[in-house]
Amino acid sequence: MKNIVILISGGGSNMVAIAKAAERERWADRWDARIAAVISNRTDAKGLGLAQSLGLKTATLDHKAYASREAFDEALMALIDSHDPQGRPALVVLAGFMRILTPAFVNHYAGRLLNIHPSLLPAFPGLHTHQRALAAGCKFAGATVHQVTAELDHGPILAQAVVPVLPTDDEHTLAARVLTQEHLIYPRAIVDTLRSL
Ligand code: GAR
Repeated sequence: MKNIVILISGGGSNMVAIAKAAERERWADRWDARIAAVISNRTDAKGLGLAQSLGLKTATLDHKAYASREAFDEALMALIDSHDPQGRPALVVLAGFMRILTPAFVNHYAGRLLNIHPSLLPAFPGLHTHQRALAAGCKFAGATVHQVTAELDHGPILAQAVVPVLPTDDEHTLAARVLTQEHLIYPRAIVDTLRSL
């Protein structure tokens, strides 16, 4: 069985989209894959309750309880790996996980660590992507699924979606339009990756 562990920090709408696609498309039968756990670094993440209501196993690991980024990532790796009998899940999926990861973490999951970022990378890595796209006068915006490498919001691009920027947009309306597309491309990119494993 290919175990998928999803990491979240907040609303968890991408996690829900992935979980619903896994159910609807019978990933267990077709790709021998299942979502083994949803892990949050924030105890108040709304997505935790949503994951539980979908019947998914959840766990939290509060980054504030750790003295350093290295110590937190070390504990996070141990928690993630405890959800796979072989000691390392097939895929670790970052879905609105708002932590910068150490090179040790990224190397540990090299080739099996995916992220979604709300911009058309390589444009606008980092935070406040929609605000920055509007300020730059972009006519199009979007989202990118990519493999995670040590450099923030870089790494091989697996999927992208493009949306128009409308003259009436503010960062919230643009974010909502992009998020709808994220929910479509992330499950697709995960299936493509599962098929290649
Ligand atoms: C999504 O828009 C995702 O692309 C973004 O956070 C949001 C999470 O929403 N991720 C990043 O900005 C990572 N740098 P969700 O919790 O509802 O899936």
